[in-house]
Amino acid sequence: MSEILLQIDGKAVKAKQGMTVLDAARSADIAIPTLCHHEQLEPYGGCRLCTVEIETRGRKRLVAGCLYPVEPDLIVRTRTEKIDSIRKMILELLLAHAPDSPQLQDLAREYRADRDRFEKEASFCVLCGLCIRYCAEIKKKYAVGFINNGARREINFIPEIAAGECWNCKECFPLCPTSYLQAAYHLTEALAFPSLSSRSASKRLVTTTTL
Ligand code: SF4
Ligand code: FES
Repeated sequence: MSEILLQIDGKAVKAKQGMTVLDAARSADIAIPTLCHHEQLEPYGGCRLCTVEIETRGRKRLVAGCLYPVEPDLIVRTRTEKIDSIRKMILELLLAHAPDSPQLQDLAREYRADRDRFEKEASFCVLCGLCIRYCAEIKKKYAVGFINNGARREINFIPEIAAGECWNCKECFPLCPTSYLQAAYHLTEALAFPSLSSRSASKRLVTTTTL
């Protein structure tokens, strides 16, 4: 695999063909914030928190670092006034959904984002798609998906699949940057497959008693 030399924040970085700007930055210990990215999943480009500035042949552009492939002599800037203000705005919009998310609060501190700038939204889901993509790409189960579009877009467990698969898996729970996924699952469990809801409850009881 051929080696590609680029510059990130003034530092010469060696990358391999097929790497993204995010991969290259991380290999050089240069931090770029992400929300919808997961190393085991295909790049998604949903949250745009990873926005960076690239410069090629004197032309500057903003791109998603998790999607943009490295190329020779690329100049990348990961922190500028403009980038910071974009990240601040994205975080403020996300915080309207999930003001108590520890992951968002950490980033909010770094980018001085105001968690109360926008009116609170009814859904805690920030539509990162991590749960859906993990279930589809890694588990190949397709038990959770998006429904509706625009402001009404939300995740939805497919009861016929979730009833048979999720109670014993739940590997997507820790990926969720907010508390929404777990709540949505327990609601689906209680409404759509209540018999499993009691099985989970007794399992929880056994675990608690054993502890
Ligand atoms: S439920 Fe959580 S992991 Fe799934 S899309 Fe919403 S925020 Fe992301
Ligand atoms: S991490 Fe790149 S768009 Fe979400």
